[in-house]
Amino acid sequence: MGDRLLKSVVLVGMMGAGKTAVGKSVAVKLGVPFLDSDEQIEIAANMTIAEIFERDGEEFFREKETQVINRLLLEESCILSTGGGAFLAQRNRVIIREHGVSVWLRADLDLLWNRVRHKTTRPLLKTSDPFKTLSEIYEARVPLYGRADIIVDANPNFSIEEMAETVIKA
Ligand code: S3P
Repeated sequence: MGDRLLKSVVLVGMMGAGKTAVGKSVAVKLGVPFLDSDEQIEIAANMTIAEIFERDGEEFFREKETQVINRLLLEESCILSTGGGAFLAQRNRVIIREHGVSVWLRADLDLLWNRVRHKTTRPLLKTSDPFKTLSEIYEARVPLYGRADIIVDANPNFSIEEMAETVIKA
């Protein structure tokens, strides 16, 4: 075990920023559990995120997201990677602030687009113009992500390891 964390480290930011990859690396380096809120929602519902959106809608998904984040942060100190929309709701920011240190993995729109453009797993991007949708989501969310405790740049020239080290130092 590494140093005991008093609070959890909660990674927030856009889809494609690398929250899961960086979060896993931070967890290994600190010797603490890694959890992913989307993965936990899928396990609890026994459905994929895309299936939940399709069957029950985004509002239902957001309810589940809040419940899961609450449960995970109450259970134990961990490194928690959250879905891109998780930090937008005030109720989630309150829980995260209470139990964790939030880290915004900030990435440029171009980098995000390059990472998500060929993936079909993001229901919010199933539109006639996914780049436009992503840009609009990005513009709307940046001010809210900016409320995170710490900002770490997900520059493509940095390796996952380097970004994990930056998160740990910060
Ligand atoms: C979402 C991002 C996804 C997932 C869901 C909604 C969002 O997670 O939670 O599709 O609102 O940006 P990732 O950020 O891990 O892709």
